[in-house]
Amino acid sequence: MQDLEEIKSSALGEISSCKDLHELQQVKAKYLGKKGLVSQALKRIKEIPPEERRDYGKRVNALKELIEEEIKKKEEEIRRKELEEKLLREWQDLTLPLENTIGSVHPITLTLERIVEIFRGMGFSVEQGPEIELEDYNFDKLNIPKDHPARDMQDTFYINKEGYLLRTHTSPVQIRTMLSQKPPIQMIAPGRVYRRDDDPTHSPVFHQVEGLVVDENISFPHMKFVIEEFLREFFQKDVPVRFRASYFPFTEPSAEVDIGCVICNQKGCRVCKNTGWLEVMGCGMVHPAVLENCRVDTEIYQGFAFGMGVERLAMLLFRIDNIKLFYENDIRFLRQF
Ligand code: PHE
Repeated sequence: MQDLEEIKSSALGEISSCKDLHELQQVKAKYLGKKGLVSQALKRIKEIPPEERRDYGKRVNALKELIEEEIKKKEEEIRRKELEEKLLREWQDLTLPLENTIGSVHPITLTLERIVEIFRGMGFSVEQGPEIELEDYNFDKLNIPKDHPARDMQDTFYINKEGYLLRTHTSPVQIRTMLSQKPPIQMIAPGRVYRRDDDPTHSPVFHQVEGLVVDENISFPHMKFVIEEFLREFFQKDVPVRFRASYFPFTEPSAEVDIGCVICNQKGCRVCKNTGWLEVMGCGMVHPAVLENCRVDTEIYQGFAFGMGVERLAMLLFRIDNIKLFYENDIRFLRQF
């Protein structure tokens, strides 16, 4: 009995002075383990006079339960304290003003804002369309029928739902706008587009800004003026511009717009592949078939449209030579804007 009292007081003392879970584990093994002091005490029951064994057994069991109970309590206490310490250690004052950690606007956003502001200044409205688009709006109504080779020009991401795809350009917003608004129309549509393309100058997700003007007496020179004016504003200088005859199913005549290489000032470099020119957008007079598909009266109205690549323009504006930098979110890159 004397023995049990000693075990009890030493166990309680040791438990209460434990400072962490590891120490507690050792105390637990010392008393409650297979060869622990409590087990040994239980084995000594043989040495006890038979009439006292029952009582002795009860006491040992009570002692065992008490120690278990105390260890459990201590364990909870230690865990609670550790959590409190951790919270205190990791506490951060989110209201503190931080120095040198000011965020920055992403260069693509900056470029988009710059483009939108220039066109707003010229009286254009800003329209939007969905990125999951009807095949009918992305192709058919733009005068690109199903068997037309131009469908292969744009490697399309089709999605499971019949008749839908990830838009390959912002041109379907032309369709949506003409179907929902009466001329005069003077709009741009900035947004994300998708193509199965992936190399240093192509990303499967990129941005375009579409432009559409529909009104009476609209001609090619109007388009030329708007585009040249835009490019002058965008680069803040008189960049050389040329319109090169090209082909799009939804415009006729069509052109691609080149600017004099802003990297080498037309002396010839890697970026312009030594031609001195860089292509920045496609454009043209809206094909009458497209106007008719959108119930616009071609006896009264004409239009022009253009579509530009935002990444392309951003790379030229900020002199960035790899499109991937826009999507990696490397803080050292982003901080420069
Ligand atoms: N949608 C064309 C493209 O993605 C660009 C374009 C838009 C051309 C409008 C002409 C008119 O390549």
